[in-house]
Amino acid sequence: MRVPETPSEFYDRLSGDYATTIRQLVPHYDEMIGEVGRMLEVSAPARILDIGAGDGSLTRHLAHQVSGARFVALEPASQMANRAREMLAEYQDRCLVVETNALEYQPEHQFEAVYTNLVLHNLDAADKRQMLRRIRHWMVPNGVFVWGDFIRASDAVVHERHMAERLIFARSAGCPQDIIAANFAKERLADDPWTIDAMLTVLGDVGFRGAACAWDRGTFAILVATRGV
Ligand SMILES: C[S@@+](CC[C@H](N)C(=O)[O-])C[C@H]1O[C@@H](n2cnc3c(N)ncnc32)[C@H](O)[C@@H]1O
Repeated sequence: MRVPETPSEFYDRLSGDYATTIRQLVPHYDEMIGEVGRMLEVSAPARILDIGAGDGSLTRHLAHQVSGARFVALEPASQMANRAREMLAEYQDRCLVVETNALEYQPEHQFEAVYTNLVLHNLDAADKRQMLRRIRHWMVPNGVFVWGDFIRASDAVVHERHMAERLIFARSAGCPQDIIAANFAKERLADDPWTIDAMLTVLGDVGFRGAACAWDRGTFAILVATRGV
């Protein structure tokens, strides 16, 4: 098993048919993004940062749901960023797509909410920690942070069972074999998914308050925290 591509090459390969492929690779994807939206909607933020927008379909969904909010959507894979601009054309007055790695981003203002879905597992431990510190710094006091991600079960046997279930799901959902091979090789060899406990601990370490797991299904979870004051 080998990882032949950089993350941006891999995600650009998904960009043409992202909406279909992500639902083949992530069981309960629609439930997951529904939860992200619900968590943002209750805090009614005025300015929202989306880290790792992909093809912009989640941003678009949230722009509709959290009406009036202004979005900045970061996406480093160029084909994905182009798709996101097309996807968000209708909302261009309040959704800005910035083609950049979030680790290099310099915001012009702070945000009432930051969310990132299925992205931070791409970062190694040091970059993840640095990213979380920076995210907190970019938020207004008491701003909300929603972190959805690919996770690792705390028990290795349980994790393997969840991975095997996902492989069966991806095949039965009709995901192309080359995408299945590339995705699962990337997840095993290149990605760095954390346990929910490790995610909660790091959120506390970098200064977030009230971190909690709000949703989890197999190898996916959503955590919510506030910046504190
Ligand atoms: C699986 S997609 C998730 C897209 C969307 N958030 C969703 O939930 O459908 C992961 C996206 O994160 C982007 N990404 C990976 N590393 C990133 C980084 N360091 N900064 C910003 N985005 C990143 C990838 O290019 C890819 O488009």
